[in-house]
Amino acid sequence: MRMLVAYFSCTGYTEELALAIRAELESRGHEVVVEKIKPAVTYSWLREAARDFPRYPSIIFSLVSASWKEHHMRTYNQVEEDIQALRYPDISEFDRICVGGPKWAQMSYPVARYLQIVRGIRGKKVGTFCTVGGPPLPVFEEEFVFEPMRRLLERMGAQVVGRVCISSAYHAARLMPLFRLISRIRFHRPIADFLLESEYGKTGVKDFCTAVEQ
Ligand SMILES: Cc1cc2nc3c(=O)[nH]c(=O)nc-3n(C[C@H](O)[C@H](O)[C@H](O)COP(=O)(O)O)c2cc1C
Repeated sequence: MRMLVAYFSCTGYTEELALAIRAELESRGHEVVVEKIKPAVTYSWLREAARDFPRYPSIIFSLVSASWKEHHMRTYNQVEEDIQALRYPDISEFDRICVGGPKWAQMSYPVARYLQIVRGIRGKKVGTFCTVGGPPLPVFEEEFVFEPMRRLLERMGAQVVGRVCISSAYHAARLMPLFRLISRIRFHRPIADFLLESEYGKTGVKDFCTAVEQ
C-alpha cells in the first residue's frame, strides 16, 4: 500500500516516532511518504503554552471530576497555528494516513491546523500517534490528544484504526521529577519503560502498524 506519515515535532521526539513508524511500515513492504508539518513561525515553548493557559484549569479539574471532563470534551476548544505550505495538500492518493505530534496539553496546534486544511481525507483509514513528556496515562495523556483527533477526523469522514502514545521523558517546563513520580505511583515502573526504544515502545509501534495496515 502507499501510505503517508504526516507529523509535527518541535524538539525531535515525535520525529523519531514518525520515522520508526515509517521504517516498520517499509519493512512490511509498503511505500511510505513523509510529510513534516512545519509551523509558519517558531515560538518559544512558553509562548505556545501560554496560548492555551485559559483551558489549563479546566483540563486539571477534568482529572478529578468525570462530569467536568465530559463537559470539557463537549465544549472543547482547540488552539491552532499557521503552518507552512504542504508537500501533499491533497492526500486522496494514499491508501493509509498516519498523523501525529507531541501532546501540547491537548492536540499540538500545527497538527490541529493540518487536520483542518488537508484535503482528500474523507473515507480514509487513519492511525494517530503522539509523544508525551509524562508516562502514557490513558486518561490525562492519551485521551486529551486522541479524543479530539478522533472526533475531528470522524467529522471529516475518516476512520481512526490505530493509535500509539510513547513517552519522550522530556518536558521543556522541567516537569520530569513530577512525571517520574507519577510513573512510579500509577504504573510502578520507571518512565524509561515507556520510551520508544523500550519494549513498550517497540511493541507499540508494531501493533500500531498492524492496525493501520488492516
Ligand atoms: C506547550 C506544551 C505543552 C505540553 N503539554 C504536555 C502535557 O500536557 N503532557 C505531557 O506529558 N507533555 C506535555 N508537553 C511535553 C511534550 O509533549 C513532549 O516533550 C513531547 O515529547 C515533545 O515532542 P517533540 O520533541 O516532537 O516536540 C508539552 C510541551 C509543550 C511545548
